[in-house]
Amino acid sequence: MRTNALLTSVAIWTSALAQQETVRYQDPETGITFASITHANGASYRVALPINSTSSDAVLQIVAPKEFQWCGLAWGGHMTNNPLSVSWTTGATSGQKAIVSNRMAYSYYAVPQQYDGAEHTYLKGTTSNDTHWQVTARCQGCTRWSSADGDIDITTVSETVFAYACSSYAPDTPNSNTSQFNIHEQFGIWNHNLDLGRSESFGDWIRNNPYEASVEV
Ligand code: HEM
Repeated sequence: MRTNALLTSVAIWTSALAQQETVRYQDPETGITFASITHANGASYRVALPINSTSSDAVLQIVAPKEFQWCGLAWGGHMTNNPLSVSWTTGATSGQKAIVSNRMAYSYYAVPQQYDGAEHTYLKGTTSNDTHWQVTARCQGCTRWSSADGDIDITTVSETVFAYACSSYAPDTPNSNTSQFNIHEQFGIWNHNLDLGRSESFGDWIRNNPYEASVEV
C-alpha cells in the first residue's frame, strides 16, 4: 500500500510545539475577523466563531505556501478521533482552485476516513495565486464531536489545543475531496486563542461571503 511505503520512505518528520502566538486578523477579502496563527513553515490557520455559540458552527481559513500540496487542521489537537479539515490545491487555473475534505482518523497507520459528522461550505476566499493556495469555509460539526475521546465541545472554552499537518506530496486525485493522500512530512500542535475570533457579526460574515469559484485574486 502506497501509504505504508511512504511511512518508511519519508525519513524526516518535523514536530514542534509552535512558538508562534494566535493574533486577531481581519481578512481584507471577506471582512471576517479570525483568531489566526502563522507557523514557521508559512502556513496560516484561522478560525472565527459566533459570539455565544449554540451550535458547532465555525469559519476556517487555511492559507498555505504552494510548496505544500495539502495541509490540514486537527480540531482536537492530535491526529486521531477528532474532526480533520484537510485542504489542498486542485491545481486548476480557473474554477475551483482549492478544496477541503472532512476526515477523521481512527489510527496512525491509515488514511483518515470521510467524516459525516462535519460539513464544510465554501466561502469567498477559496482560491490560489502564484505563491499560495487557500480555503475559506464554514464548518458545521468541527467544534463539537463525539468519538473515542468522549463528547468534546470547544465552543465553550477561550483557548484550545489545535494541531496541523502538511505534506509536499499531492493527493492522488487533487480535484476530489474524497481523494486518498499520504502521510505528512510536518506536524505541530499549539494553543489557539478562540476568543480573538468570536464575533456578533458571524452570521453576517457567512451571508455576505458566498463562494464564487471564478473570482481571481
Ligand atoms: C495518510 C494520511 C496520514 C497518515 C498515514 C498519518 C500517519 C501518522 C503517523 C504514523 C504519525 C506518527 C505517530 C507517532 O509518532 O506517534 C502521525 C502523527 C500525527 N499526525 Fe498524521 N497521518 C496522516 C494524516 C494526518 C492528517 C490529515 C492530520 C491532520 C490534519 C494529521 C495529524 C497528525 C498529528 C497532529 C500528528 C502528531 C501526533 C498527534 O498529535 O496525534 N495526520 N501521523
